[in-house]
Amino acid sequence: MSLLNKYRPQKFKEVKGQDEIVTALVQSIKKGKLHNAYLFAGKYGTGKTTLARLVARAINCSNFKNDLCGECQASSFNNLDVIELDAASQRGIDNIRELAKNSSLIPFNSKYKVYIIDEAHQLTSQASNAFLKTLEEPSSRTKFIFCTTEPWKMLSTIRSRCLPFYLKTIRFTDIKDRLSTIVENEGIDLSDDRILFRIAENSNNTLRDAINLLEICLGKLTTNRLTLKDIESSLNLISEKDIYNLLNLLMNNKVSKFFEELNKVVSSGKRYEDILQTLKYQVKEILFVKRGFIKNINKYKLAQIKKLEYSNTQLFKLLGLLIKMEEKITGFTNPKDLSEYIFLKFMQK
Ligand SMILES: Nc1ncnc2c1ncn2[C@@H]1O[C@H](COP(=O)(O)OP(=O)(O)OP(=O)(O)O)[C@@H](O)[C@H]1O
Ligand SMILES: [Mg+2]
Ligand SMILES: [Zn+2]
Repeated sequence: MSLLNKYRPQKFKEVKGQDEIVTALVQSIKKGKLHNAYLFAGKYGTGKTTLARLVARAINCSNFKNDLCGECQASSFNNLDVIELDAASQRGIDNIRELAKNSSLIPFNSKYKVYIIDEAHQLTSQASNAFLKTLEEPSSRTKFIFCTTEPWKMLSTIRSRCLPFYLKTIRFTDIKDRLSTIVENEGIDLSDDRILFRIAENSNNTLRDAINLLEICLGKLTTNRLTLKDIESSLNLISEKDIYNLLNLLMNNKVSKFFEELNKVVSSGKRYEDILQTLKYQVKEILFVKRGFIKNINKYKLAQIKKLEYSNTQLFKLLGLLIKMEEKITGFTNPKDLSEYIFLKFMQK
C-alpha cells in the first residue's frame, strides 16, 4: 500500500493544517446541524477527499464525540451507504441519472446515505443540470459532498446549494508534523532535523507531494536511517551546501571559482533552471530574514542566514536578475548561455 493511502487520516484529529474547518465540521456534527450538500474546494493534496470521507462516516457514527469513535460500523470505512463518484471518469448524464434514481432510496443500514462527488468540476454540463434537480428535492436521509480543485468551473447553481469550505495549503510546520508521525511509525531514524523541512520545502505546500517525496526517499533506503544526503540525492535536490557556496562566491566576485563550482553542480545532474530557482528562493529568504520576517524557516537555516553579511543592494540586484530571467529561461534552447550571462552580468565590475 502506498504511504499516501496507508496514512490517509482515519480520524479528524489526524488532519493537518485545516483546523478551522475541522472544528466547524465537528461542532456541527455534534449538534446534528447538517446541510444537504457540502463543498470542499482547494489545491490538490490538501485534504478534500480525506475530509469528505471523514464527514460521510462521522455523520453516521453512532458514538461521535469529538471525532469518529473508530468502532462502529460507520467508522469502518467499508460503509455501503457511502458512495463515491469520480467525476473525472463518471461524468456523464447516465451516471447522474442513475445516481439520482438511487439517491432517493433509503440508506442500506446507516442513518444517512452519502454521495461523494470527487473532481466535481469535471461533470458535463448536462450531468450538472440533471444533478441540480436532485439537489433541489433532497431526500432528508441523503447528503452530497462535492470536492474540487476548480470550484469556479462548477455550475454556480450547484455551488450555491452547498455549504462551502475552502481548504488551505499546508504550512511547513504542519507538513513536518505529519511526516514525523509517518517516519516514526515506519521505524525510520532521521539523522538530522532539517530532513523533513527539506521535503516540506519541495512539496508545493501539499501533503500529497510531501508524502510522495518521502516515499521516494524511503524506497531507496537500504537501512532504517535517513540522512539529508539521502534525500538530496533521491530527490535530485541542489544541496543547501552547494547553494550557499555558489551564493558566497557570487557575492564575493570570485568569478573563476564560481563557474568552476557551478559546472560541478551541473555535471552532477542538476538543471540550470533549478539552480536559478533555488538561488532565487535562497536570496529571497535571506532578504526576508533581514527584514525580520522569519515565518516558516527552520532554526538551523535561520542561524546560518543570520551569519551572512551580504549587502541588501547586492542581494536585490541578484534577485532582480534572477526574477527577470526566470520567465525567459523556461523553453529557452540554451539555458547554459542565459545562466552564464546572468552570473557574469551580476559579477561585472
Ligand atoms: N490535511 C491533511 N492532513 C493529513 N493528511 C493529508 C492532508 N491532505 C492530504 N493528506 C494526505 O495526502 C493524501 C491525499 O489527500 P486527499 O486525497 O485528501 O487530497 P485532495 O485534496 O483530495 O487532493 P486531490 O485534489 O489531488 O484529489 C491523503 O491520503 C493523505 O495521506
Ligand atoms: Mg481528492
Ligand atoms: Zn462510530
